[in-house]
Amino acid sequence: MHQVQKLLINYKTLEEFKKFKEYGLQELSMLEDLQDNMIENDSVSPFYGIYYGDKLVARMSLYTVSKAEDRYFSPPQDYLELWKLEVLPGYQRLGFGQSLVEYAKSYGLPIKTNPRVKSADFWSKMQFTTVKYDMDRDKGENPLIWHPSGFLEKAE
Ligand SMILES: CC(C)(COP(=O)(O)OP(=O)(O)OC[C@H]1O[C@@H](n2cnc3c(N)ncnc32)[C@H](O)[C@@H]1OP(=O)(O)O)[C@@H](O)C(=O)NCCC(=O)NCCS
Repeated sequence: MHQVQKLLINYKTLEEFKKFKEYGLQELSMLEDLQDNMIENDSVSPFYGIYYGDKLVARMSLYTVSKAEDRYFSPPQDYLELWKLEVLPGYQRLGFGQSLVEYAKSYGLPIKTNPRVKSADFWSKMQFTTVKYDMDRDKGENPLIWHPSGFLEKAE
């Protein structure tokens, strides 16, 4: 099991983030907030990562969705939204992705994610299952869920 760290927002971390494909608005707004002194250096972020030496090679973002907002589990419950899971080329298939998912599971909450294309085999190995597609809720995404007590999907 690789060591998972909570990532702090600073220029070094944001520079490391540029190597990931899913670099986008969230990262740019963190950079702007840092530059504009809206947030302090080393502020907490929703990101977790794994370093190999001093290089960030894998990361994910996690945040808690409250049960009032839950549209995936029945009965409604607090769950973790896991996104931006990504392992850099050259470091894939070495267990980094699995270590991040296991870390997320260690909170003991249900998890929901929207997988990127071509990662279906990885997610089924992680015991994530598909939900019945709901057009209003899922809006073209194909969410996957995991529940600490095993399979559980919102009842119709
Ligand atoms: C998908 C991703 C998050 C998985 O993380 P990872 O660190 O490479 O995967 P791990 O080493 O933790 O793999 C855990 C298990 O899933 C399997 N697995 C991982 N990626 C897989 C894939 N693309 N296809 C089939 N199985 C896969 C591994 O073989 C391993 O199974 P095992 O324990 O039986 O050997 C990561 O590879 C990634 O970010 N990829 C970038 C883009 C992408 O989705 N690529 C898919 C291939 S084109």
